[in-house]
Amino acid sequence: MSDREGLVHESGKGIVIEDRVIQSITESDEIREEFVPDVLCLSKTPTLLETDSSTSVWDLAGCAVTPGLVDAHTHLIWAGDRSDEMRKLQKGTSYQEIANSGGGINRTVSSTRLSTIDELVGIGAKRIREAIRQGTTTLEAKSGYGLSTESELKLLAAAKQLEQETPLKMHLTWLGAHSVPDELGKAEYVNELLTDQLPAVIEQGFAKSCDVFCEQGWFDNEDTEQIVKAASSKGLSTRLHVDEFVDSGGLDLAAELGVVTADHAAKSNEEARHAAAAAGVIQGFLPGTPYVLGAKTWPPLEEAIESEWPWTLASDFNPNCKSISLPFVGSLASHRMGIDPLASLVAVTRNSGATFPSFESVGVLVEKGPADINILKSRSVDGWCQTPGGSPFSHTIISGNMIVH
Ligand code: NIG
Ligand code: FE
Repeated sequence: MSDREGLVHESGKGIVIEDRVIQSITESDEIREEFVPDVLCLSKTPTLLETDSSTSVWDLAGCAVTPGLVDAHTHLIWAGDRSDEMRKLQKGTSYQEIANSGGGINRTVSSTRLSTIDELVGIGAKRIREAIRQGTTTLEAKSGYGLSTESELKLLAAAKQLEQETPLKMHLTWLGAHSVPDELGKAEYVNELLTDQLPAVIEQGFAKSCDVFCEQGWFDNEDTEQIVKAASSKGLSTRLHVDEFVDSGGLDLAAELGVVTADHAAKSNEEARHAAAAAGVIQGFLPGTPYVLGAKTWPPLEEAIESEWPWTLASDFNPNCKSISLPFVGSLASHRMGIDPLASLVAVTRNSGATFPSFESVGVLVEKGPADINILKSRSVDGWCQTPGGSPFSHTIISGNMIVH
């Protein structure tokens, strides 16, 4: 992930885009000769040189470019506000205790259930605008704040509408097993998930994956296995939440089940990490969550690099961790955990793209791949994760369309 020679092109290259796809990556001079032979390229910042009805030529003024970023774990759509829970955390009440006393996920469920699909689409659209501003061009969106068949379908329908109305590539995940709704016991709810929600989600046809919050106090390994097996028999791939607060064997189970990505994996044991890697299971690290919870430890990124486990970074955008910025997550990895900025970038591009086998070549810049590209304000690719709180990008190209930030 830190192979600069293999992964980073020297300056002086240009990219030709046609029909939403990268046609060629070649020498800048050749492109200039072919498209704008009479124009001097003296721009100090990215500038549109020439445009006719069929061609636009941009001089990027030596700024570095990256692939469009891929956010492989978000809880994009929910309504309400839990900002008042922070003081409880600061006074020593744990995330679990807050959840058990009427806060947390189920509190967001109450406000989300009261929202119409149009309201949810409006909320999601604003978040997507911010994600694009932060360089995200492909995004996974989970349901999980409905916890009833009707409300989970509403969340997936809102996400589907956003997929159609915004330029982002989106991957939808059904997370009915995010928490047990207040009105049901756990066994009753798991039964509802299997006999009512899952069939309805399959019939609706929008979700491509299933997820379970596999964690002590939420869904145990037995529940998780049952739900995952039922969902995969219906054609859904699996992405899991595991071992966020305690090691309850979630990553071991993820390895056994051969899921696509096991996320958080903050407290997992080393043997499980090796087993996951051997099974081709990606560990999806989400440092935004320990950051907002004030945790004292970070996910084991250095160990992942040394041991060559496959891993990604994602935002985990949710009501408790309201940053949808991958550059911020990259800043945590590089400024706080000492990870090479190039490795952090690979974690949110090529590696996270690999969790979406149905999208070809997302997260990499290759000929015939999608023209999803970020233009940095810096000449160094390392600048991508050094603007915490702001965006490092001046422009983002999605499917060949230039967006000026
Ligand atoms: O991944 N931990 C489970 N789900 C989310 C948080 C959800 C919430 O607090 O609303 C997560 O961190
Ligand atoms: Fe999450």
